[in-house]
Amino acid sequence: MTQKKLFATEIYQTSLQDFFKKNHKHLLREIEVLCHDDEAGWEWSKTHYPKGYTSYASANQMHKMSPTFAELELCIRKHVLKYTKALGMTLGKDALSMSTCWVNVMEEGCTHPLHIHPQSVISGTFYLKMPQKASAIRFEDPRYGLFMHRPPVKTHISLDAKPGDLILFESWLRHDVPLNLSKDSRISISFNY
Ligand code: NI
Repeated sequence: MTQKKLFATEIYQTSLQDFFKKNHKHLLREIEVLCHDDEAGWEWSKTHYPKGYTSYASANQMHKMSPTFAELELCIRKHVLKYTKALGMTLGKDALSMSTCWVNVMEEGCTHPLHIHPQSVISGTFYLKMPQKASAIRFEDPRYGLFMHRPPVKTHISLDAKPGDLILFESWLRHDVPLNLSKDSRISISFNY
């Protein structure tokens, strides 16, 4: 008897420990300044990101605005290349580039509902502050809408991440960010390629 796994969904997770050690204080300081100055971002977050702040609609080119974010992009790029190779995508070295990069600050009670990242190939998140009770990201089984009368099985899987961790996934894969149950804020940087 053989049983084979076909069409598996691959998620990439690694730690950017050296970059994190060198830059995390600086990045957090830059995010603090951004949070202070970005009125348009707060206005957008009021309706689209309750109990949190995101620069998704206001400052989403952070890799072009800050040298620290640009350095982060150089680190991420290497892993995107490894990941796409492992996925079997035949792409030239510069076929993909970071198109958007933004900041997310989730306070207690903040959540981000299920979504995909249109017009992108690879998306991901770099984690800066992860309180103990905050889960990193939760993925939905992409076959979910096709299950018909299949008896119930696990359809969503949460991943944990430590500060300095990087998670990459294919942009079509639906995911959400479960409720932050901690009193501390959860701070991350998200991006598309
Ligand atoms: Ni997302």
